[in-house]
Formats: sequence, C-alpha cells, structure tokens
Amino acid sequence: MKVAIIGCGNIANSAHIPAYMKNRDVEIKYFCDIIPERASAAVAKYGCGRAITDYREILGDREVDAVSVCTPNNLHAQITIDCLEAGKHVLCEKPAARSYTEALEMQAAQHRTGRVLNIGVVNRFNDSVNLIKKYIDSGRLGEVFHVYVSFRAHRSIPGLGGDFTTREVAGGGVLIDWGVHFLDIVMYCCGDPKPISVSAEAFCKLGRNIREYAYRSMWAGPPRYDGIYDVEDSVTGMIRTGGPVITFNGAWAQNIGKDEMYIDFMGDKAGIRLYYGKDFEVYTSEHGALVSYKPEFNMTNHFENEINAFVGCIQTGERLASHIDTVIITQRIMQAIYDSAATDREIEF
Ligand SMILES: NC(=O)c1ccc[n+]([C@@H]2O[C@H](COP(=O)([O-])OP(=O)(O)OC[C@H]3O[C@@H](n4cnc5c(N)ncnc54)[C@H](O)[C@@H]3O)[C@@H](O)[C@H]2O)c1
Repeated sequence: MKVAIIGCGNIANSAHIPAYMKNRDVEIKYFCDIIPERASAAVAKYGCGRAITDYREILGDREVDAVSVCTPNNLHAQITIDCLEAGKHVLCEKPAARSYTEALEMQAAQHRTGRVLNIGVVNRFNDSVNLIKKYIDSGRLGEVFHVYVSFRAHRSIPGLGGDFTTREVAGGGVLIDWGVHFLDIVMYCCGDPKPISVSAEAFCKLGRNIREYAYRSMWAGPPRYDGIYDVEDSVTGMIRTGGPVITFNGAWAQNIGKDEMYIDFMGDKAGIRLYYGKDFEVYTSEHGALVSYKPEFNMTNHFENEINAFVGCIQTGERLASHIDTVIITQRIMQAIYDSAATDREIEF
C-alpha cells in the first residue's frame, strides 16, 4: 500500500511516519509540506518518497491508497474532503475539524465516497484505556454514574500567538487541543453514551497579555509577541449523557502549581483513576476493607497500533472505533461547550 504524509511537522515525525516505516505493508510515496525544507528533510531522514509542497499533486496519483493528514486544524476538512473525493482513504489527526459544521462536511464526504475516514483519537488504541473499557464493560465498576475529567497544566500554553492560539486556525484552545482526547476516552470507555445537555464556561485569562505570560518552557513555541491569542486557556463544565454525568476542568495554564492530568471513572462498586498516557489505579472495598491496586501490563505504542489498525482496516473493510461516525459526537459536544460558554446558557441536544 502506498501512502502520503500531508504536513511534516511534530505529530508526523514523532508518530505517523515512524509507525508507517515499521509497517511492512506500507511504502511512503510522498512527504508533503508547504515548508519545502520539512518535506525534503523527511525524504532525507527516512530514505524514501518524494518531497512536494502541494497536496493536490497526490490527488491525481492513482498509486496512492491512503493519506495521513497532519496539518493544523484549519486544513483538516478541506484536505480530507479533497482526498476522499480523489478516492484516497484518510487518517486525519485530531480534532476532526475546527467546528461541528466542518466535521459534518467531512462525514458527508466519507458517506458519499465510501472511503475510510478515521480520526486520530489515538487513545482508542491505548492499552490502559482498552483495559479500563474491559473493567467497565464487564461490570467491575458497577454503575459508572459520574466521570470527572482533569486536563490541567500550571503553565503549558503552546506557541503563544501562533497557530495553536489563533481561533481561525485551531478552532479553539485547550478544549479542542487536549480536551478532545480526554472526552473521547470517556465516550469510548463508557460505550459512547448519548449526550443530553451541556453547560460550560471558557476563559481566556492567563495568556491574554502575551508579554506578561510567565512560563519556564513553551512547546510549539517560542511566543510571537505580535501574534493572536483569542482562544480559551481554561474551560470547565458539565455534560449530561444517557450514561454517566461528565464534569470537566481543563487548562493550558491555571495557577495550580502541579499539573493534574487524569480521569476518574466513579462507579458504585469501584472507581478507576486513569493517569493520562500512563497506567491506572482501581479503588474499591472488599469484606469491609478499603482496597486499591494498580494492574500491571505491557504497554504497546498506541500510535503504532493506530496506524497498523488504519492500514489493516483498509485491507479488511473492518470499521474501527476511530471512524468519523463514532468520533463526530465528541466534536458535537465540544461545539456545545463553546456555544454554552459563549451564550451563558445550557445547550440541549
Ligand atoms: N494525536 C495527538 O496526540 C496529536 C499530537 C500533536 C498534534 N496533533 C494534531 O496534529 C496536527 C498537527 O500538529 P503538529 O503539532 O504536528 O503541528 P506542526 O505545526 O508541528 O506541523 C504541521 C505541519 O503542517 C504543515 N502545513 C501547513 N499547511 C500545509 C499545507 N497546506 N500542506 C501541507 N502541509 C502544511 C506545516 O508547515 C507544518 O510543518 C494538529 O491538528 C494537532 O492537533 C495530534
């Protein structure tokens, strides 16, 4: 299978390209980036493919079966739709798009073309997350009535003034960048419950004066003092669903001293705290005693699992849990969170 990488930045180099390189069924035919040096650096580093700067060159190449879309969020919809229409299968990085409307257009293109469209909700291929799903599905937690989600950092606004903090490019701030992963984990582990209503608030406080924002290091940095910062650096709220109630508190920056990156699944028989990207702890009681334990297991690389599953599903026709039809609900919830915050009222589905 021949694939193309569109956008040769951070996630392409740290996850997609190395995973494709390890997959024996795959050959990377194109590395595309509007910054020519990034595309040619990938050709030199990985010793294969052609460097190009315009993804439309890929559309006419019948040899290319599939693409990874690893560009900033504002280009996800356009590039994905163009590739689907050209008959390519697509793995598009998260979030699906900047808005629910754009994500619906992507979904419509998938339905029209019948090609695969998966979104990079990589945690659905994570061993901890899949084990927690088994605990919940098998009833070990009893009724999971409440899930608390914390994706909070003391100081972690990325590239202040750049793509990540510009609404026109990113679609939002910490919710659309980090929250998308956390909400997706909850939806997946709890069986994709139907959302009922959302009430939320979003704040643009700590980074709004770019020159005054204090930090130790900045990923996707350095700050652009003449840049734009018009997204939320923290967000909080409640989502009622047909399953558990979900409450959340997320922040790129929040004056909390220590980062708090975890999800608490609270059941009436047991609870689980997932340490994001790591392992988890189970809390329960046995014979009148309080008990907790940390399951031990081998952690495989979730990006490799995601890419291998994408390649595999093209070959077998299997529908993955990262299909746009499943993932789009998180985009709808995020839209409702933003709408609720903007209008100071609860949004009902
Ligand atoms: N799954 C994850 O955990 C994860 C982690 C990081 C980023 N991401 C997602 O991946 C995407 C990219 O993030 P990143 O951190 O790699 O950003 P990045 O800025 O490092 O890389 C994006 C690249 O896209 C290129 N690009 C821009 N316009 C283009 C175009 N028209 N054609 C081809 N290339 C173009 C840029 O020049 C840049 O090299 C974002 O949507 C982000 O949310 C996902």
